[in-house]
Amino acid sequence: MTKTYEFPDNFLWGSATSAYQIEGSPLAHGAGASIWQRFVHSPGLTIDGDTGDIACDHYNRYREDVALMRSLGLKAYRFSVSWSRIFPEGVGAINQAGLDFYDRLTDTLLEAGVEPLATLYHWDLPAALDDRGGWLNPDIAHWFADYGEAMFRKLDGRVRKWTTLNEPWVITDGGYLHGALAPGHRNLFETPIASRNLMLAHGSAVKRYREVGAHQIGLVVNIEPKYPASDSEADRAAAVRSAAYMNRQYLDPAFGLGCPGEMAEIFGPAWRDWTSEELSLAAQPIDWLGVNYYTRGVMKDDPAAPPVRASYVRQPGATYSDTDWEVFESGLTETLLWVKERYGNPPVYVTENGSAFFDPPTAANGRLRDPNRVDYLQRHLRAVHAAIEGGADIRGYMVWSLLDNLEWSLGFSKRFGIVHVDFATQARTLKDSARFYAKVVASNGAVLAGDPWAVLE
Ligand code: BGC
Repeated sequence: MTKTYEFPDNFLWGSATSAYQIEGSPLAHGAGASIWQRFVHSPGLTIDGDTGDIACDHYNRYREDVALMRSLGLKAYRFSVSWSRIFPEGVGAINQAGLDFYDRLTDTLLEAGVEPLATLYHWDLPAALDDRGGWLNPDIAHWFADYGEAMFRKLDGRVRKWTTLNEPWVITDGGYLHGALAPGHRNLFETPIASRNLMLAHGSAVKRYREVGAHQIGLVVNIEPKYPASDSEADRAAAVRSAAYMNRQYLDPAFGLGCPGEMAEIFGPAWRDWTSEELSLAAQPIDWLGVNYYTRGVMKDDPAAPPVRASYVRQPGATYSDTDWEVFESGLTETLLWVKERYGNPPVYVTENGSAFFDPPTAANGRLRDPNRVDYLQRHLRAVHAAIEGGADIRGYMVWSLLDNLEWSLGFSKRFGIVHVDFATQARTLKDSARFYAKVVASNGAVLAGDPWAVLE
């Protein structure tokens, strides 16, 4: 019998983006600079010197982009709010024009029948707060909760699903340990401080939400299942350390399991245990968890790669995307089932999943064929379905990303969109992956049973 792919009723099919990657006009109408504004304007830090000054010009074209979502039949849209549009100094006086932008965006989505999911923090800290230590300053928990409250008061009711942070691991590993992302620090001792303050800010915002909000709030993490490169004791230990560092470091405290024991070993003298007050603040109950999944990691013991002492091993014969990430869809099923088992089957949304691949030019008939991305999508959506069959409480899926956009320090060199953006003209063109995804959504997954190429002809 052919396998069928029925998804639950009301499964939330959507797409995701983030503010700095698509909006452009970062300083418009009284907005303050963010750490990304500074980072991209520091010579040599992004590929080709690319910046988010214009990006997808979504700040001016959001109506057109919402119309695109509607035309694809998407039911949800996950976006992030730029903190420094709302509070140019990070704290203090609200910039009404900034708040109004997200107000208009939300109304436009609702009018189009697309449910908004708002993320408070997708990496663009107000620069004014960075000047005060940013994520290293313990006061940030209050700053963040105050910012959250301003958003909740303005939009809760119209926005019913909130996220505090997007990917705390990337914020600290990229921003404080290896420096590839803003604010570009490379400091072992700062990294666990930033991690702790992020989770205290998360907990403080959830607490504040319980006081002023009436719907749901969650946390978004990125998870990469880690496999040992060999059966050796050393490689197996390396995979366990890597999983603690990337996957359990934030989830364990968020779900009340404390900090993983491996953290002290990984950070050595840079680690200090969290107090019981810190642990309980970080463990505020959340309504749902967002899981971002792109790839897996096959790890080997590597003393030359501190602090985890592990490095990736390339898999011969595997397919790698343009960001050099292995396509490994069964890792998504495994990840979702792992979350179910370890954290008591919380409601989960796959809040990001997608791939960068080289896209050929648009054909004369307007068709843009992106077969690798279509294939990636089909494989990973089947993998989500397998997790649902395995009993995981998966409520929705947001493809990353709606639009090609600024891939952080990689600039515009990597395209993740299901919609192509010509950055010279701002023209949007549906890729085959968008057309395929629209069919998946319209059939609530049923077309995943067949050959995607047949669906596209
Ligand atoms: C981030 C996105 C990013 C994507 C692809 C995720 O880690 O949330 O902002 O564009 O990965 O790298």
